[in-house]
Amino acid sequence: MRKIIIDTDIGDDIDDALAIALALNSPELQVIGITTVYRNTELRTKLVLQLLRAFERLDIPVATGIGAPLLAKTDVQNIPCQWLDDYHDIQGNCSRHAVDFLLEQAEAHPDVTIVAIGPLTNIAAAVRKAPETMKRVKVVMMAGMHSTYYPEWNVVCDPEAARIVFESVLDLTMVGLDVTLQCRLTEADVAHIKKMASSRVSFLSRLLTQWMDSSKHLPILHDPLTIAYISHPELLKMEPKRIAVECQGEFTRGMTVVQQDVFFNRPQENNVLAATAVDSKSFIDLFMQRLF
Ligand code: RIB
Ligand code: CA
Repeated sequence: MRKIIIDTDIGDDIDDALAIALALNSPELQVIGITTVYRNTELRTKLVLQLLRAFERLDIPVATGIGAPLLAKTDVQNIPCQWLDDYHDIQGNCSRHAVDFLLEQAEAHPDVTIVAIGPLTNIAAAVRKAPETMKRVKVVMMAGMHSTYYPEWNVVCDPEAARIVFESVLDLTMVGLDVTLQCRLTEADVAHIKKMASSRVSFLSRLLTQWMDSSKHLPILHDPLTIAYISHPELLKMEPKRIAVECQGEFTRGMTVVQQDVFFNRPQENNVLAATAVDSKSFIDLFMQRLF
């Protein structure tokens, strides 16, 4: 079993909850912790606890992380759109800060993989606090694009943090927007999910309904694909790339830029293994089978 820690901004887009649920239902993976990041991390932690309760996995430690990006401005009190006031008050079993938790786990389990499915603030803070430890850690992230048309959320929300991660983590894998956009649930999938009754699924289904009522579109499985890559790497085609994060540009801040020596094709030092193609049908089949 692969040990993973999921660093999540659960509560805005629905796919974080779906990704955590997929990880909990994957026998190949052992979730040894979950950390929260971006804006109102206290509420995000509470939402993770609701999900773990539905899955009867409150044994998993959940650590609250950093709400404010390194430089970008945002409202850290922002209420995640999936927050409902009738949630139970659940006590977690972890009082550590997310960054300390990540570093302690990385020291205790050298084989752990951190799966980053939110903005990269916690990971960058861990790099700053203990660069040597983070050089040894494997990070698989849903972030960026290997083509450069527009910025991706997890990078644009905290470009400085993303830049630190791209420049410092040596074992870095990215599942970017170019491939995740190919993985969408259909109306029929959603109808199927809503018909299921078990308490685990009914909690997810409630989140899904609430999210679809406000977003008015079908879920895209960005973060679940990132989890599935770890259990089923054959679903994705991967290529080493040299990718930088634009932090300055008036029109391009937060974009990931592929650096290529197009004129002379000289060898370059790559810094990330990037997903460039996906077998989306096999992935969606796996996702529906494992969860619903
Ligand atoms: O760009 C996709 C990412 O942003 C995913 O992590 C999704 O959850 C959204 O927040
Ligand atoms: Ca996310």
